[in-house]
Amino acid sequence: MTEKDFLPQPYPATIDQGEVTWESPSNIALVKYWGKLKNQIPANPSISFTLDSCRTTTKLAYKKKEEVTDSFDFELYFEGEKKDAFRPKIQKFMERVEQYLPFLKDYEFTIETSNSFPHSSGIASSASGMSALALCLMSLEKQLNPEMEEEYFTRKSSFLARLGSGSACRSIEGELVVWGFQRNIYGSSDLYGVEFRDEVHDNFRNYRDTILLVDKGEKQVSSTVGHDLMNGHPFAERRFQQAHENLDRLKKIFRSGDLSEFIQVVESEALTLHAMMMTSQPYFLLMKPNTLEIINRIFKFREESGLHLCFTLDAGANVHLLFPEKEEKATLEFIERELKQFCQNGQYIYDKVGSGAKKLA
Ligand code: PMV
Repeated sequence: MTEKDFLPQPYPATIDQGEVTWESPSNIALVKYWGKLKNQIPANPSISFTLDSCRTTTKLAYKKKEEVTDSFDFELYFEGEKKDAFRPKIQKFMERVEQYLPFLKDYEFTIETSNSFPHSSGIASSASGMSALALCLMSLEKQLNPEMEEEYFTRKSSFLARLGSGSACRSIEGELVVWGFQRNIYGSSDLYGVEFRDEVHDNFRNYRDTILLVDKGEKQVSSTVGHDLMNGHPFAERRFQQAHENLDRLKKIFRSGDLSEFIQVVESEALTLHAMMMTSQPYFLLMKPNTLEIINRIFKFREESGLHLCFTLDAGANVHLLFPEKEEKATLEFIERELKQFCQNGQYIYDKVGSGAKKLA
């Protein structure tokens, strides 16, 4: 599919008002997206586990304007309170997607949104938030065009979510989603995320992700700035090539179920992401002393226990702990006993791989 496929034909139906609610999850990348071209096209392909309990719920109410105006009209509520601070982001999103959703200026919208994870936990809500909003708008488009096929609905939701926040395009489906063209992954595209449909060994079923909240403060460097710093970065080209190689390796690992190899790829990806940040101009450092303390304790635990706990990082100090379902008991005991002390207020979030966004009745 190309961008043009997402430009709609005139709509057969008219809709005056209504509302729709979607719940959309966050995701955690195994091969990281870091660096982009124009229009949120990724510089390299990435793959993520879709999460289960870290979710955003968004209700979109829409009412046709009596007179059409040349502006986007929307009100925004976050966890029950009016939130004007989010307006610029939504305004920008609407501008970017308008050509694909030409009805946006015909309606007054009320957007009510809330997160399942604690407010300002340092967990990025842009993936779950933008995907939930994209899905709500697609539900309205589907009412205007009732013949729309499910596959088109899913692809276009991911396509629109990507224009809101790149990694959001990986939050529509589960359990593993690839975004970015990769010659060995059938159907992969720079325009939207697709479910990874190859064979996946049972070792990766119900994989766990416990998120240690090391630092809940605002990020010092936004991901937009971070992506931009990959332009002209001395190691960029080699890094983009490495992401392709790591995705190839993961494809084989998912088939074989080799957990030791999995750990090597995933941890190396996390550290490479942060190495890119530390070697850009200007350079920046998002890991905290407790992030390193946790990583070192994971290395030691793995050596002593022979278990397969590993870590990955987002663009922040929090640590995602990935481990197989069958090692859950011993791993959770270790987290409680040794890692919890390095979390702000002892807080961590218990999550696992999930199956994607859901429309609520
Ligand atoms: O979606 P963005 O622009 O916030 O970028 C997210 C980038 C990482 O979370 C660091 C990696 C990824 O692939 O999710």
